[in-house]
Order: sequence, then structure tokens, then C-alpha cells
Amino acid sequence: MKFHDKRVVVTGGVGSVGRALVKLFAREGAQVFFTDRSEEDCFEFHKRLERRDLESRYISGDLRKKIDCENIISKAAEQMGGIDILLNNAGVIPRGNILETTDDMWFSAMDVNINAAFILCRAAIPHMQAAGGGAIVNTASTWGIYPGPDHVAYCTSKAALSAFTKSLGRDHAPDGIRVNAVCPNEVDTPMLRTGFIQRGLDPNTAIEELHKTVPLGHIATPREIADVIAFLASYESRYICGETIEVTGAKPVCW
Ligand SMILES: NC(=O)c1ccc[n+]([C@@H]2O[C@H](COP(=O)([O-])OP(=O)(O)OC[C@H]3O[C@@H](n4cnc5c(N)ncnc54)[C@H](O)[C@@H]3O)[C@@H](O)[C@H]2O)c1
Repeated sequence: MKFHDKRVVVTGGVGSVGRALVKLFAREGAQVFFTDRSEEDCFEFHKRLERRDLESRYISGDLRKKIDCENIISKAAEQMGGIDILLNNAGVIPRGNILETTDDMWFSAMDVNINAAFILCRAAIPHMQAAGGGAIVNTASTWGIYPGPDHVAYCTSKAALSAFTKSLGRDHAPDGIRVNAVCPNEVDTPMLRTGFIQRGLDPNTAIEELHKTVPLGHIATPREIADVIAFLASYESRYICGETIEVTGAKPVCW
């Protein structure tokens, strides 16, 4: 029980990586409080976990709204008696170059991918200070470090999340709060598959082709990313702080 009694908040909890995270932390003995935008999806996932004897709490909310972000942290702290770990996993991926990017696409990417992390961390850090320490793991992207084509809002927001991670890591290391980010390359999730569909490609064929480009033999599964996030939240990574860890299966980031 690696996370016995740890109090964990997971955003994007019903997404692909989010579900893997919620299950992993619940199985490892943590109190898990997850959030996502659809009340119905949260309820359905909570019930599914219950059927597997996994406990969880949840609240639905829209991370584009400051009030919802603050409410997520205050409800999580109230219901769990504090917060030890915050996993900023939710994300959106508007696709397009600058001329194709509407105000709504740009501001949604900034609101969900970076502004929500700011509000959630600012609200959660005092709880971690009160507990004598904690861990925050942000899900950034290799595309925030090596921007790919035609995703200007996504790449910019994930780059900001990486800089934010390093900045917080340095500022809060003296509090015993470690802040790190995981930067996945391609993960086999609907987020990736919808991109192929939009480009008129068959997602299964495209994923098979993509597997061949990875020296480790396949693009990441959600569980493989969740395992790295769990490591960064765990005692085993106690000397890692303010880092952005690229998880690529040895694939050079190119396009
Ligand atoms: N899939 C990939 O190839 C890939 C690669 C690199 C990084 N990432 C990052 O990994 C993280 C998880 O992605 P995933 O692949 O599981 O995607 P996903 O779409 O399955 O999950 C993202 C979750 O975030 C939630 N979310 C989005 N906007 C929200 C809002 N306004 N309020 C509340 N919740 C909101 C969604 O409802 C969804 O459940 C994201 O941050 C993503 O950018 C993914």
C-alpha cells in the first residue's frame, strides 16, 4: 500500500489517464478525490469503482471557472481532512495553427491547461504546508518542450505548465512540497485518436503505424503514464523536484 492514507486530488479523473490514476491510487491505499466536468460520468465511474471495492470521492466542475477550481480544493480538503497530493492531469487539445485558432480555442487551452493548475495549486499548497509537505504532479507534454505543427494553443499552454512546474518546484521545495511534471509523447487515448479521425485517417491503422516509430515498440498506454505520475508522487522520488520528465519510449520527438 504505497499511498496508504495519502489524500489525493486528481483532475480529469474520468479521462483515459485520469481513470488509470484514480484506480492506481485507490488500489494503493490512498483516499482519492477526483473531479471532471460531467456529473454523470463522475457518478458512473465512482459506481464502477465501488463495484470493484475501490473507494473514491468526486465532485464535478468546470476547470475553466476559478470558482469551481477553488471549490474542488476546499471540498477535497474538507472531505479528506487535508490534501497531500495534487495531480493536475486534465487537459484539452485544440488543433490548429494561429490562423485557425479562435479566441475560444486559445482561452480554453489556457484556462484548462495552465490557469486551472495555477488556481488549484495556489489553493492546495497551504493544505500541504499544514501537513508538513506534499507532492504535485502536472501533466504537461513533450509538445510543450518541442512544439509540433498546427497545435499552437496546446503547445504554448503545455510549455507554460512546464515553466510553472519548475518555478513552483523551486519555491516550495523548502516546504517539503515537491512539484514535478510528466511530459508524455503519444499516449493511446481518444485525445490522440480524434486527431487522426479529424485528418481523415483510420485511427487503428494510424496507431499501428505509430507503434513502429517507437524504439520500445509501442506508444504509451494510459497506465504507463499513470505509473510515472505515481512514482513522482511517491516517497521513492523524494529527491526529484522541479523537473519535467519526458516519457517517450526512447522516441525522438519529431513530426
Ligand atoms: N493522449 C496523449 O497522447 C497525450 C500526450 C501528451 C500529454 N497528454 C496529456 O495527458 C493528460 C490526460 O490526457 P488524456 O489523454 O487522458 O485525455 P482525456 O481527454 O481522456 O482526459 C482529459 C480529461 O480532462 C477533462 N477536462 C477537459 N476540460 C475540462 C474542463 N473544462 N473541466 C474539467 N475537466 C476537463 C476531460 O473531461 C477529460 O476527462 C492531458 O493533460 C493531456 O494534455 C496526453
